[in-house]
Formats: sequence, structure tokens, C-alpha cells
Amino acid sequence: MAEYFAGNVTDYADGDRKVVDCGEHEIGVFRIGDEFFAWHNRCAHRAGPVCQGRIMKRVIEPVADDRTTRTLEYDAIETNIVCPWHGYEFSIRTGRHQGSGRFRLRKADITIRGGEIYVRS
Ligand code: FES
Repeated sequence: MAEYFAGNVTDYADGDRKVVDCGEHEIGVFRIGDEFFAWHNRCAHRAGPVCQGRIMKRVIEPVADDRTTRTLEYDAIETNIVCPWHGYEFSIRTGRHQGSGRFRLRKADITIRGGEIYVRS
């Protein structure tokens, strides 16, 4: 399995991403806090370029004590990638679709050596 250079750790700020050409595949590399994640750039829905979508905090709708909902908030922990084709949202940490267990992204191997990031498809 070939290994592809995906940049240096210092190239990525918190919330950054790069899509790396890996021959027949593309892999998206994401930095969330001090953690890095790598997913194939192929949406679990209809194979769209999911890793090139918008990155945003998960939106939640808290239920008040009187069981009403009056506001939307951003989740403090979860960050999603939103597929640009049909808007499916996937957790960057887990690759899981936020609304259905049927859809999840395909994980790619990621290795960090000496501050350099490498991925394998
Ligand atoms: S291809 Fe990604 S949401 Fe449809």
C-alpha cells in the first residue's frame, strides 16, 4: 500500500483540511484540536467529494425543562463535514452520519512521523 505525504503538522491550523491526491483515490486530512483524521473523499451516500465540503460544528436543538425547543446551538465537541452534493453531515472524528447509522465514511490510515503527515488509501 503506497504512502502519500499530506504536509507537515504545522501546515494545519485547528479546523483545517487538505485533500491529498493518492493516485486512484483522494484522501481528506483534517485537524480538530490536536488530533488528525483521514477519510476517503467519497461520500457514503452517492460518492460525492465529501471531504471538500463545509466544515462546521454540529447543530443541536436543546430541549428546555418545559419540553419546548426555542433555539439552536453548536455542539461544543462535535465537528462535521457537510457533503457538497446533498448536504449529508458526517462527524470528522468518527466518520458517522449524524442522522443514520447506515452511512459512514471510509477511514484512511494516517501516520505522523517527525512532524510529517502520511496517509495510505
Ligand atoms: S453524495 Fe454526499 S450527500 Fe449525496
